[in-house]
Amino acid sequence: MPVNIVSQLYKIHPKINEELLEQKVLFLLRQIGKAEATVSVVLLDDLAMTAYNQQYRSKAGPTNVLSFPSAEDSENIEEFIVPVPVELSSQELGDILISVETAQREALEKKISLHQRLTELLIHGLLHLIGYDHEISNEQAEIMFSQEKELFHSIQHHHIWRKKMPQLAINVDHIATIRQARGGAEPDPVLAAGICELAGAKGIVVHLREDRRHIQDRDVHLLRQTVKTRLNLEMANVKEIVAIALEIKPDMITLVPEKRKELTTEGGLDVVANEKKLRKTIKKMSEAGIPVSIFIDPDAEQIEASQDVGATYVELHTGRYCDAENEKEQDKEFRLIEQAAELAFEAGLRVNAGHGLDYRTTTRIAGIACIEELSIGHAVIARSAFVGLDQAVREMQDCIDRA
Ligand code: PXP
Repeated sequence: MPVNIVSQLYKIHPKINEELLEQKVLFLLRQIGKAEATVSVVLLDDLAMTAYNQQYRSKAGPTNVLSFPSAEDSENIEEFIVPVPVELSSQELGDILISVETAQREALEKKISLHQRLTELLIHGLLHLIGYDHEISNEQAEIMFSQEKELFHSIQHHHIWRKKMPQLAINVDHIATIRQARGGAEPDPVLAAGICELAGAKGIVVHLREDRRHIQDRDVHLLRQTVKTRLNLEMANVKEIVAIALEIKPDMITLVPEKRKELTTEGGLDVVANEKKLRKTIKKMSEAGIPVSIFIDPDAEQIEASQDVGATYVELHTGRYCDAENEKEQDKEFRLIEQAAELAFEAGLRVNAGHGLDYRTTTRIAGIACIEELSIGHAVIARSAFVGLDQAVREMQDCIDRA
């Protein structure tokens, strides 16, 4: 791996998109002519950074970034303090240590996003690794800062992509819908989840609605014990369900709007209008180590607000694209989702998508490079009535693989 992102944070930092950081470092390595080199980025808290700062620089307190050139190169470090990057004998550049806590404080002070501040610190650390040093003289400082500016400008005008295909998460709500039709025990969504996982699904999604029309409390508790991949609990931002989520600790939650009379979730959540309540819930989830996704329409304002309230993910609503009545309308809706996915990813959010996806509409969405997971329910459960659940999941996976 040319870039190794190591998190030494006590808890997984819920707001860091490690994949985005990795892609940024890869881009920066190419920009400085070191595409073949390797580098490690270590994310720390202030406590750990304070220890390094004391040990290696005899300075008290934490700092934002420290660079350690690889052992072989550090013997020659004096020679590297030159205005242009030099050829290193080794392709192992070294380690960049970043205190995420300090970065977060600085981001707030500068009124920029955490990811923007992390990018600035990455650039600074990387330039140190290849020999730039602003502490040597005013002239060296000027050279280094102008390089920093140039790299920052180039990364801001470059689209960063994730390279992997999205993963398939199956929503098993409608197995429970069939069960509830007779009020008995079958079919059991817990068993269905196991079948989906064995067929290759990488996640299970359930929506515990306030009216309990399909998924029941018992299902969520059992699924927490049995799901081996990832359990994503869809839920409204209401006190009762928030308490259940905090108790069972799913792998993530997705906040959705919920109306009693709707057949299914109709539109994305209005993050702008619900900012205060969302912030409060996200803080609680964050403290419990539960990442939060917000289901939104593919809209720039909602993305910005989701980032503001501290979400880790957004799930982009694909409903209008799936329901489009003609090709032209579908193209238009597709472009909106594609642009929103890029915007969210580059802002440091992780991106999922879903709603209404079926065996015709999934492949194109799966081709959007920034999307991490697709949440699909109705189409797969409907098809399972004819071909069985195992086969229905595998066919949907084929749709993703074709992208
Ligand atoms: N994502 C969200 C937020 C949803 O509310 C739903 C429906 O429960 C889905 C995805 C899955 O939609 P569908 O059942 O149409 O595949």
